[in-house]
Amino acid sequence: MSFRRSSWFPLAILAVVALVAGCRAAPEQAVPEFESVESLLAQMTLQEKVDMIHANSSFTSGGVPRLGIPEIVMSDGPHGVRHEHTRYYDKATGVEDASTYLPVGTALAATWNEELGYDIGAVLGSEAAYRGKDIILGPGINIIRDPLNGRNFEYLTEDPYLNSRLAVGYVQGVQDQGVATSVKHYIANSLEYERRFVNVEMDERTFREIYLPGFRAAVQEGEALTVMAAYNKFRGDWCAQSAFLLDDVLRGELGFEGLVMSDWNAVHETFPTVLVGLDIEMGTDLGQEWGKPDYGAFHMGDVVVGLVEGGTVDEAVIDRKVLNILRVMEAIHIFSGDRPPGAYNTPEHQAVARKVADQSIVLLKNEALLPLDRGGLETLAVIGANADRKHAGGGGSSQVKAFYEVTALEGLRNLLGDDVEVTYVPGYTVAREAAADPAMIREAAAAAAAADAVVYVGGLIHGYTDEWDDNAYDAEVLDKPDMMLPFGQDALIQAVLEANPRTVVVLQSGGPVDMRAWEPDTPAIVQAWYGGMDGGSALAAVLFGDVNPSGKLPMTFPRRLEESPAHALASYPDENLLIDHTEGLFVGYRYFDSHDVEPAFAFGHGLSYTSFDYSDLEVSAGDAGVEVTLRITNTGPVAGGEVVQLYVGDDESSLPRPAKELKAFDRVELEPGASTSVSFVLGDDAFSYYHPDRGGWFLEPGSFTIQVGSSSRDIRVRDRVEL
Ligand code: BGC
Repeated sequence: MSFRRSSWFPLAILAVVALVAGCRAAPEQAVPEFESVESLLAQMTLQEKVDMIHANSSFTSGGVPRLGIPEIVMSDGPHGVRHEHTRYYDKATGVEDASTYLPVGTALAATWNEELGYDIGAVLGSEAAYRGKDIILGPGINIIRDPLNGRNFEYLTEDPYLNSRLAVGYVQGVQDQGVATSVKHYIANSLEYERRFVNVEMDERTFREIYLPGFRAAVQEGEALTVMAAYNKFRGDWCAQSAFLLDDVLRGELGFEGLVMSDWNAVHETFPTVLVGLDIEMGTDLGQEWGKPDYGAFHMGDVVVGLVEGGTVDEAVIDRKVLNILRVMEAIHIFSGDRPPGAYNTPEHQAVARKVADQSIVLLKNEALLPLDRGGLETLAVIGANADRKHAGGGGSSQVKAFYEVTALEGLRNLLGDDVEVTYVPGYTVAREAAADPAMIREAAAAAAAADAVVYVGGLIHGYTDEWDDNAYDAEVLDKPDMMLPFGQDALIQAVLEANPRTVVVLQSGGPVDMRAWEPDTPAIVQAWYGGMDGGSALAAVLFGDVNPSGKLPMTFPRRLEESPAHALASYPDENLLIDHTEGLFVGYRYFDSHDVEPAFAFGHGLSYTSFDYSDLEVSAGDAGVEVTLRITNTGPVAGGEVVQLYVGDDESSLPRPAKELKAFDRVELEPGASTSVSFVLGDDAFSYYHPDRGGWFLEPGSFTIQVGSSSRDIRVRDRVEL
């Protein structure tokens, strides 16, 4: 193969593109013609090689100007291309740096729709390409282990299979646009508390069965070009410095040939980092003024030149890193310049954001209140500060400057027009330490009493303000203090329900909150996550029946924090900053089902305005694997989507196994009265477990139960298979 810069892409054009996109500086000189990345490497001085293996600004790694090798330009993140805030951003260029604000990770996961994973990726990749970004810093696929984790909203699920399926689509969607993904955070960064210093311990089986599969799938099936090593330590070594994680597992076992970067300032020492499979130390030069950076002082900076010259580090080690980087640059068309141009704020991108929002909303409970009848209502009270709140700008590195964001209140007003009189009362104040305010509650209760029905929109937020150190709840750097609704919302909801029992409670949050104070009295509860730029429109459409809800929980909602496995069986980081995953495999529903604990709402749960019948299950073991077919019929009055979930249970095994594990799922859309056949083929991996003594996956012969249903606790048909 030969790699050449296209002759039609002269520097003048490059400079114009850089100015318009405002993101990539033009190289001082064109990349000379070169036969291979190896031949390019051969032209580099040692200093130039070292310049490429560390950050060169907050969101670029170094290039080699003499050879015309540009910097690699990166951008967060999972929910949209982040606004410009690095040295490349110059307001004078008039760069439009807003982007399509997509529903957050847990919302995407609640769609259980692999195609939408791809579509979200494609939107991100396209907008990244348009903005001159080479790598999207996502998807975030850490397993949701603990409801308190501040960043759960960015991640996907508690289940490794669902995680894998969505991650693969996302990665392929981005990368098909000629932009790389950086799958993060490798690995087990499942709390924010002291994230740069905690040490995560877990047994080998848990590592293999729960935490690794998402990364394995993203790398092997999705062919992710880059991986981001997490902040935390894993078994005593920082992830970015771990020979076990990077060399033995990622590159050795998984065969990863791409580029590994560190999370921002996640490297603590030159040794052993420089020796392991980490290629780029990323981070922000916190000690310097913007524009006067000293990135050469990084651990993988200029000091490495001396170490190679002094014979302590073999230059071949640095060459390997540079080659990994150059290969990724080549794969994303940085040298050829022929990456698809991408697009910006197109109706198609907006349609993806809306479709994900529609399919993500989970109807948790409905006692004949929903859908609300537009014709039967004269007045609707909308209560709750979240109804009028925009979420795109908060949360930490996943923040997005949205082209627009339709709030719940706007969505309802837009939908209802003049048909229904909508009154709005915030009911609570979003402020540090804010408690229930009797006057505000009285006002809310009066509005509720005067209305025909009430839509309460509350939940969590991405921080008190958008300022970094003020983040809280669903946000980076800090975990949630507890699982309770903040700002006195429990008392408010109770008062509103008393004033008007026709109240639907809508929760915006990345995950579960404790609902015990009001759940029994609430006829309808909706989990709306943070639904992206059209989240408010999607919510209104679901509440009034224009869209039939079809989202399913991608994580278990415990009744209370103490009943979630990380709290029931393990402990929050101790004074030694140890996070011991003593619950082992029993994360999420694997715990609730195996330990017989009743959750508030089960993994996979989500109601519809129609009903589905499951029938005609047939299970047969053949050469191709275990074939499972069944029939799904829409037996209710309206069209709807159903996520058919297949769980496998091992009836008897030598090592303990969870009662059931998700091994396949499919989403079907059916008109009323229509029915369809759904089939799955399960390979050996669906029945195997990791056997630490054997050092590998093991299909232990015996009988297995195939359970298919509408949630992990709503199994409709089951059968046994002997293997
Ligand atoms: C986060 C990463 C993010 C990076 C760059 C870090 O603090 O953990 O997820 O990609 O910053 O913004």
